[in-house]
Order: sequence, then structure tokens, then C-alpha cells
Amino acid sequence: MEIRIEKTQHPKKRPSDDEILNIPFGKVFSDHMFMMDYKEGKGWHNARIVPYGPLSLEPSACCLHYGQLIFEGLKAYKTADGSIVMFRPDQNMARMNNSCDRMCIPQIDEKEVTKAIAKLVEIEEAWVPSAPSTSLYIRPFILADEAFLGIHPSGSFLFVVILSPVGPYYKGGLEPVKIYVETNYARAVKGGTGFAKCAGNYAGSLKSQAEAEEKGYSQVLWLDGTERKYIEEVGAMNVFFVIDDTVVTPELNGSILSGITRKSVIEVVKSWNMPISERRISIDDLICAYESGKLREVFGAGTAAVISPIGELKYKDTVMSINGGKIGQISQRLYDEITGIQTCTREDKFGWIYKVK
Ligand code: PLP
Ligand code: COI
Repeated sequence: MEIRIEKTQHPKKRPSDDEILNIPFGKVFSDHMFMMDYKEGKGWHNARIVPYGPLSLEPSACCLHYGQLIFEGLKAYKTADGSIVMFRPDQNMARMNNSCDRMCIPQIDEKEVTKAIAKLVEIEEAWVPSAPSTSLYIRPFILADEAFLGIHPSGSFLFVVILSPVGPYYKGGLEPVKIYVETNYARAVKGGTGFAKCAGNYAGSLKSQAEAEEKGYSQVLWLDGTERKYIEEVGAMNVFFVIDDTVVTPELNGSILSGITRKSVIEVVKSWNMPISERRISIDDLICAYESGKLREVFGAGTAAVISPIGELKYKDTVMSINGGKIGQISQRLYDEITGIQTCTREDKFGWIYKVK
């Protein structure tokens, strides 16, 4: 892929690592972005790295009306020797194409786009923070920009990648979060778009999230959309339980996002020869495990959230306080291993690291 590069004439001052640790997630952006266009009959073309700035869209651009829009999230890290690396970008690109397929968006060339993202990150090297718990969050997205009001797939698209230096997703860092089990609203059903990383999934979850926040909870835990019985995932992360000595997570069923951190946790736990079970788990089974003292740890896993211990789960009138509201041993061990691999302080046994420079 040929990439035209236009450097900004007005570089910004990047916030210090200390400032980044205190800025809410995803509020500041680097100097440049990657873009390319798609037109039916022409394919993806006009790849460019240009100064970060507003997009120009027709008010009738169909993504603004019907939400034909998908996104990804991955991170780049600065290592102790000054290298810059990304974590499992191949997985994000593969998932992006799955989302594209579901949302009638043309496929991207996974390898070429990965190289383009690496090029952008290399140009923005100075924007990669190095303090513990910081990283450069990479947000690729594709929007449908053909101008029309009929309901049919767009014939033109815009692919954009923006970069944001970030600290922890939750204010308290590794402090366990409180999660509200949603019993009223539904996020996804089988046959819907739950497995795709499309904008509408998140728009539909905002009301539930806002109501949970009003009650003092950080995010909601979704149950299946049909019976409201089986556990699915949290707003921005997949969920794991340690029941007795087994790590349990809901199986991928078409309505859950196939998280890359989830996949990594499963592979790490397997490499430790610890029992792991991907299965359907009902909220009633979870409460039974809690009441019999078998529910030892609960944590979420996601790119933004990394490994986030969950200290409290509220379902109807039942409040489950997990591990005395403290981070569990397995959650901590997973956090250390995964962040260690990401920042290259631990051996990359699985071949997950993509070197940018
Ligand atoms: N589930 C949802 C709904 C998410 O938004 C995310 C975040 O991307 C995840 C799970 C975790 O996925 P990943 O580990 O690939 O970031
Ligand atoms: C991520 O973890 O990358 C996400 O997309 C979660 C959130 C910021 C929407």
C-alpha cells in the first residue's frame, strides 16, 4: 500500500505521563491520523497519513442515519529499551473483517492495514507514553459515507485510525469495580450484531450504563437478550469467574464480542495448566456458587480495561461482595503476565508482540 504522508505544521505538546494518568480515557489525540477511501468498483484507495482534524461529511452520509459504522481498539506500548510494540494487531484486523462482513462493509487487507497502523504509530512515536499503566490507544474505524436516505448498504466508505495516549480505563486503576447486573434492557440477541464491534451496540447500551452509574456502579453485566438468564459480558469487557479452582467464562455464542484479551487470558490460563471452562453460565448458578463460598474471584478483560477486578456484583436484591472487595490472586497474576508481555518485561512465549520499531 502506497501511503502519502502530510506532516502537521502545528504539532501539539503531548501531555506528560503524569498528566495522561489523570486525563479521562480517550480525551486527547495525537497529531496525525491515517485515512483511506473506498468506492465501489475502485476498492480501497488514497491511503494517507494527514494532520488530525475534523472529517468532512455530507449531512446525508448514511452512517449518520443508519449507523453503518464499525471500530476496533488496540494498544501500542513503549518498552524499557525504547522500542515501540503493538499487542496482537492481527487479531484486531481479523475481527474488524468479521464486523465488516456483518455490517455490509467491504473487507480490508489485514496485513497491509496493520503495516499502515504501524507506520502511523512510528510517526507518532513521541505520543507513546512509558509510565506503568499508560499506553497509546489505537482506534481504527470505518464509516459509510455515501450520501442518500434509502436503506441499503453504502457504496463508499472512509477508514480512519486515530491515536490517544491513555492511562487506566477506570479511575481507580486496579481497584475492584462495582458492576450492576442488567435485568431490564438487552444488549444483543443471537442473529443480531452482538459479536460485531459496531457503533449501534454501544449506542443501545448507553441508557443502561447511565442508570447503573446513577446507582453508583461502573458498568453493567449483560444477560442474554432472550431469557435474561445467562451471563454474557460487561459493557466494555468480557467477564471471568474463578469458581473453586476453575476459571469460567461465558462461551462465544454469537451475541458476545470475541475479546482479544479474553482469548489471551484463556491461552495464558491453559499454559499454567489451570482448569478453564468456556460454557453457558446462568446468573442463578453464579449466585449458588457465591452462596456456597465457591465464587472466589470475578474480573473483566478488555483492551481498555486490561484485567479489571470486580469487587461487587448486584443482581436484583442480591449483592455479591467478591473476595472482600480486594483483587484476587489469579486476577493479579493474569494482570502481571499480560501487561508484562505487552510491555516486553516478560517473555513473549505466544508470539503476540508486533514490533513497530
Ligand atoms: N466486550 C465489549 C462489549 C467490548 O467493547 C470490549 C472491548 O473492546 C471487549 C468485550 C473486550 O474486547 P478486547 O479484549 O478485544 O478489547
Ligand atoms: C476497547 O477496550 O478497546 C474498547 O473498545 C472498549 C471501549 C473503550 C469502548
